[in-house]
Amino acid sequence: MKELAVRRVNADEAAARIDGLAEVLLDCVEGGASVSFMLPLARTRARAFWQGVIDGVARGERTLLVAEDEEGQVLGTVQMITDMPDNQPHRADIAKLLVHRNARRSGIGARLMQAVEDAAREQGRTVLVLDTASAEAERLYERLGWQRVGVVPNYALLPCGEPCPTIFFHKQL
Ligand SMILES: CC(C)(COP(=O)(O)OP(=O)(O)OC[C@H]1O[C@@H](n2cnc3c(N)ncnc32)[C@H](O)[C@@H]1OP(=O)(O)O)[C@@H](O)C(=O)NCCC(=O)NCCS
Repeated sequence: MKELAVRRVNADEAAARIDGLAEVLLDCVEGGASVSFMLPLARTRARAFWQGVIDGVARGERTLLVAEDEEGQVLGTVQMITDMPDNQPHRADIAKLLVHRNARRSGIGARLMQAVEDAAREQGRTVLVLDTASAEAERLYERLGWQRVGVVPNYALLPCGEPCPTIFFHKQL
C-alpha cells in the first residue's frame, strides 16, 4: 500500500481538497452508506456540503481530518463537531467517517478514528458521541472501545429510500 498520511486540515487546506472530499462522499453514498444523503447525489450538492463543513472549520465549530496518499489523493475523512451548548463544553460529536471503497479494509478507518480521538483529547473533549447505520462501522467502533448505547429503529433512510435502524455509541476519554 502507498504511504498514508492522516492529518487535521484548516479551512484553506480543506478548500484545496474539496474535490477529493466530494469524491469520497459520492463514492460512499453510491455504495449505499447512510450518511445524510439520498441517491442520486449530484457532485454540486456534495461540494456544497463540504463548503458548509469548511465554513464550520473556519468558524472553529468543527475539526476536519483527512487521510491521503503520497500523491495527495483523499482516501478518507472524519469530523469532530465541537459547537456544543454551554452546558456541554466537554463533549463533541463524531461525524462523517468516510473511506473510499477502493481504500477500505486496510486500516484507514481505524487510523482516522484514533486521530480524531487524539484531537478530542487535545481539545479537552472527554465525552464523544456518534451514530451509525453501518455494520462495518459498528465493528470498527466496538474494536476501538466505544460503548454501544442502543438502536433506534427507522431512524434514517438508506440512499435508496429504505428505512434503516441506527446505533448510537459513546466513548469517555
Ligand atoms: C466504516 C468504514 C469507515 C470503515 O473504513 P475502513 O477503512 O474499511 O476500516 P478499517 O480498514 O479500519 O477496518 C475495516 C475492516 O478491515 C480490516 N482490516 C484493517 N486493516 C487490514 C489489513 N491490513 N488487512 C486486512 N484486513 C484489514 C479490519 O479488521 C476490519 O475488519 P471487519 O470489518 O471484519 O471488522 C467504511 O466501511 C466506510 O466508509 N463505510 C461507508 C461510510 C459509512 O457508513 N461510515 C460510517 C458512518 S458512521
